[in-house]
Amino acid sequence: MTKILRTVAELRQQVHAWKADGLKVAMVPTMGALHHAHMSLVTHARTIGHADRIVVTIFVNPTQFGPNEDFDKYPRQEQQDVALLKEHKVDILYAPAVSEMYPPGFATTVQVSGLTSALCGASRPGHFDGVSTVVTKLLLQGLPDCAVFGEKDYQQLAVIRQSARDLDIPVDILGAPLIRDADGLATSSRNVYLSESERQTALLIPRTLQHITTTLEQGPNALCENVIAKARRTLQEGGIHNIHYLDIRDAQTLENITRVHNPARVFIAAQVGTTRLIDNMAINPASV
Ligand code: PAF
Repeated sequence: MTKILRTVAELRQQVHAWKADGLKVAMVPTMGALHHAHMSLVTHARTIGHADRIVVTIFVNPTQFGPNEDFDKYPRQEQQDVALLKEHKVDILYAPAVSEMYPPGFATTVQVSGLTSALCGASRPGHFDGVSTVVTKLLLQGLPDCAVFGEKDYQQLAVIRQSARDLDIPVDILGAPLIRDADGLATSSRNVYLSESERQTALLIPRTLQHITTTLEQGPNALCENVIAKARRTLQEGGIHNIHYLDIRDAQTLENITRVHNPARVFIAAQVGTTRLIDNMAINPASV
C-alpha cells in the first residue's frame, strides 16, 4: 500500500514518526514518469541504504527547466507511477503541488559554484540552481536518513553532495549506478520522445562512449582531446550533429584532464531530433 502525501506537514510528521520508532528512512527524489531505473534507486535505498521505509517524491520542478525546455511537455502520469510504486512496495509517494513547494513570496535560491560551471551547467544556465534549491527543500522537508540519486545525472549527484555537505544537511547522499535499456541506451523518462529511427541513431551515443572508454583504458597515454575529436566525427557521421558537450573529466572533481591517469568519466549531452539526451561512462585506467 503506497500512501500519497501532498504537504510538507504530512511528510515531516510521517518521517518523524518512523524515525522515532527506530526505522531507517530513505528518500528517492524524482520527477515522475517512473521506469525501471527509478525502481533500481528504490532497490539501492533498501540494499545499500538499509532503509526500512521508502519515500519516493514526484515533483516536476519548474525552476530547473529553461524557458525553451520541455517543462510543459514533460510526461506526467501519476496513476501509472502509483501502480509501479505499489508493485515495488514503496511506502510513501510525496507529490506536492507547485504552490506547496514555491508558495507566493518564495525568494531563496541555493547556488553551488565551481562544479556547476561546465557540462550541463554551461549548456543549461540556471538548471543546477533549480535542482539544488528543490533538492535542499525536499531533504529539509523530510529529513530522511539517506537520499538516493542516479549516476546517470552524475554532475547533479556531485552538486547535491556538495550542497548537502556545505549546508550541513544531515542526510547521507547515495549514488546509484546508471541503468541502461536492453539496447544500451541510458534509461530516461525523455526516451519516450524518440521515434524508432531516432532511437537507432541515439544508440551511437553509448557505443561511442564505450569506444572512448576502451581506447583510454587500453592506452592511458592517449591525449583526451584527440580521442574526443575522433568520437565527435563518428557521432556526426552517424547523424548526431548537435553535440552540446563531449568531455572527459576527473571522476571526483569533474575538472578537465589531458590524459587519463586517475579514475575519469566521459560525459555527453547531445540532441537527437528534438530530444536532449545525456549519458556518461566510467574510465578506469589499469594503473589505478
Ligand atoms: O533527477 C531528477 O529527476 C531531478 O533533477 C530531481 C533530482 C528530482 C530534482 O528535481
